[in-house]
Amino acid sequence: MKRALKLFSLLLMAGILFSMTGCGGAKGAKKMRIGVSLPTQRDERWVRDAQRMKEAAKEAEVELRMQISDNDASKQMSQCENLFAQGIDILILAPHDATSAASIVDKAKRLKIKVISYDRLVLNSDVDLYISFDNVKVGELQGKFLVDRVPKGHYVLLGGAPTDNNAKLFKQGALSVIQPLIDKGDVKVVMDQWIQDWQPTVAMNLMQNALTASGNKIDAVLAPNDNTAGGIIQALSQVGLAGKIPVTGQDAEVTAAQRIVEGTQSMTIFKDTRQLASEAIGAALKMVKDEDPGATSKINNNKIDVPSILLTPVIVDKDNIDAVLIDSGYLKREDVYKK
Ligand code: BGC
Repeated sequence: MKRALKLFSLLLMAGILFSMTGCGGAKGAKKMRIGVSLPTQRDERWVRDAQRMKEAAKEAEVELRMQISDNDASKQMSQCENLFAQGIDILILAPHDATSAASIVDKAKRLKIKVISYDRLVLNSDVDLYISFDNVKVGELQGKFLVDRVPKGHYVLLGGAPTDNNAKLFKQGALSVIQPLIDKGDVKVVMDQWIQDWQPTVAMNLMQNALTASGNKIDAVLAPNDNTAGGIIQALSQVGLAGKIPVTGQDAEVTAAQRIVEGTQSMTIFKDTRQLASEAIGAALKMVKDEDPGATSKINNNKIDVPSILLTPVIVDKDNIDAVLIDSGYLKREDVYKK
């Protein structure tokens, strides 16, 4: 009995020693640490990006440190400095301000931390990879939707935040289709403005001004995304025009899908954030190990040609909303149809 007890305590000691020395395998090894800096959680899509990144990191058994900068460039800078101090191996950065975020990249480079420019391009910087959608295509799809329905008439053209490079690309794409009709004199532009920080209330105020200035004579509205489309449609409903003229959007937000079903918003653009977030985490894992993330194109950011991965946006209207948004599991039928 005594011997058995002695053997037992010896085994116990060995077990404790074994776990203390970390011989238990991966447990003792330092996990890869990915830093993420997102500009906002106000628009639903960014909530989905965050969610999917967390899931993907968990699946890959890596650590994720995420910060949200609430549309504030200096907050984003200090949050990233904080991430650097936490010893991240790589940074996934969706900049609030495309230009000033270059200093975040500069700092990362000095610390030998690679940076993935996520969804929005950081200009004038040495980012290692850009993962986004074909944003010019997004604008083209919006513009084409409008000119197909309103080849002649009065247009309101609203763009996203002037600090966001995507906003410029969306507008560029839309104008590639609309400008020829403006030049022909068929399309008259009642208002052409950017929406500060993509704010829905700013969009609503601009739309109210356009309606007043034109005596409600507006035939089509280029709305850059779903959240601002919400503000614009509110202004239209105040004068009984909601559902009477086409209004674009993008992001496939639940409320936008509901408006499409109701008929007050005409379309949205589906950018599968699940895919984007998964790609970004996948690329980060490779890049930390110095493996090739598999860029398929190059996009110039005014400093370098950034290796890029661009996913394809899909246009959605009432005819394909079930097939594209519900069948893919992106939105739930009961949310879209409110039943
Ligand atoms: C994104 C859009 C989003 C907008 C406002 C853009 O950079 O590409 O999907 O609606 O920011 O958050």
